[in-house]
Amino acid sequence: MNTTFFYFSGTGNSLFVSREIARHLGNAVLIPINSKTLTMKHELPERIGFVFPVYFCGIPNIVREFISSLSIKPETYIFSVGTLKGGDYLSHQQIDDVLSTKNAKLSYHASVVMPGNYQIFYDITPPAKQAVLFNKAKAKTKQIAEEINNNQVVELKHKTGLLAKLLGSYYRKLYQIPGGKDYNFAVNTACTKCGSCAKICPVSNITMDKGSPVWHGKCQLCLACLHWCPTRAIDFSTKTIKRGRYHHPEVNMEDIVSN
Ligand SMILES: Cc1cc2nc3c(=O)[nH]c(=O)nc-3n(C[C@H](O)[C@H](O)[C@H](O)COP(=O)(O)O)c2cc1C
Repeated sequence: MNTTFFYFSGTGNSLFVSREIARHLGNAVLIPINSKTLTMKHELPERIGFVFPVYFCGIPNIVREFISSLSIKPETYIFSVGTLKGGDYLSHQQIDDVLSTKNAKLSYHASVVMPGNYQIFYDITPPAKQAVLFNKAKAKTKQIAEEINNNQVVELKHKTGLLAKLLGSYYRKLYQIPGGKDYNFAVNTACTKCGSCAKICPVSNITMDKGSPVWHGKCQLCLACLHWCPTRAIDFSTKTIKRGRYHHPEVNMEDIVSN
């Protein structure tokens, strides 16, 4: 059976997980979710999946927008795989909610724990711990592929009541900010004006003005610009100055840029 993966990835975890599952499945096409693919028309096979990083207990805005733009047949087998540091919380049900507006629903969902890339809150995962997570992720992605290959159906239990309310308000408060959080990015004197940040931004939100990056209010907060900057010239306010930078070791900048 043919499968199309639509993935969003700032630092490579979700791309790596997509590749691993696709490798085990065979006959799979990987399509990045970005400002270019958002405006394209996509022909969908019988099986499609969304792979994404969990943001503030939910999904990146562009993932919601992308799913809304698709024409999906109700009989399509649809899976979602979240990559995350801690828990998947509301993320799969947010995807299911968008699908329900298209008379479709999630057939299967799973999550893979990976190093956290939100260095605004915490430092990077130490290398030894990263290696443990990558090994576990390899086993988990194999298992996910086997389950998807069997067209296994995993009923999604939507969180309701006070818990859903609290998680929802956390998501809205920290993520649904009019105009985004662009104004927090700061460029220091290490900037060589190479333009990598503008190239890597999945939503084309960064342009170079007299050689320096300028953000334009559409930031998804994927932090690709900050993590991939070759000279560590980008910070998020002062919070990331003393913290490390991360990207998945089997994903390089071209893999993200060539999207
Ligand atoms: C803005 C932002 C918010 C995040 N929020 C969460 C979260 O609520 N829960 C969690 O477990 N991980 C969270 N993370 C960590 C990412 O989900 C995780 O590192 C993911 O694997 C990154 O995927 P990527 O490399 O494909 O971008 C967050 C990361 C970012 C950048």
